[in-house]
Amino acid sequence: MENDVDEVLITDDRIREKTAELGRKLTEDYRGKNPLLICVLKGGLMFLADLMREIQIPVEIDFMAVSSYGDATESSGVVRILMDLDRNIRGRHILIVEDIIDTGRTLTYIMENLHTRGPASVKVCTLLNKPARRILDIPIDYVGFEIPDRFVIGYGLDYREIYRNLPFVGVLRPELYSRE
Ligand code: IMP
Ligand code: MG
Repeated sequence: MENDVDEVLITDDRIREKTAELGRKLTEDYRGKNPLLICVLKGGLMFLADLMREIQIPVEIDFMAVSSYGDATESSGVVRILMDLDRNIRGRHILIVEDIIDTGRTLTYIMENLHTRGPASVKVCTLLNKPARRILDIPIDYVGFEIPDRFVIGYGLDYREIYRNLPFVGVLRPELYSRE
């Protein structure tokens, strides 16, 4: 699996440092607010698991699954909820935990959808941001790393459901995928 990686973009050490830094910031910003962290499956799973351990105040978690991709590497623009939250979020302080913001379509859809449910606030924390491909402009409150326009895998991110278990973020060897 590691032989399929062209280049390691972000090592597990750097991810760990960044996650700790974000956790400290969230601890201060959300003190007294009992935030609800909403993980967008499946890509956000590892980031949530590591990030929540760095937050030193009580938090709750919930999960949501959406589909945003027509094929493996290109956004279709059609977003569908595959699995919804367990709980009512009215009056809650929501922090959406995402793996990556690419075109922004998925996040825009999720934000609009959550806002109709009457939360007290909705903010976003993403591990990766790929601003070069942004189509819909949305404010992102917490960003781990800005990355160039490369298709990345690992640390939760997949190519056709594979590579999510790599502990780092890497670039897939270009001959192994096509942006058809
Ligand atoms: P957006 O709607 O275009 O912002 O896409 C967001 C979703 O597309 C992410 O949650 C990922 O699941 C997927 N995605 C976007 N870029 C990449 C990438 O470079 N590698 C793997 N998945 C990606
Ligand atoms: Mg995702």
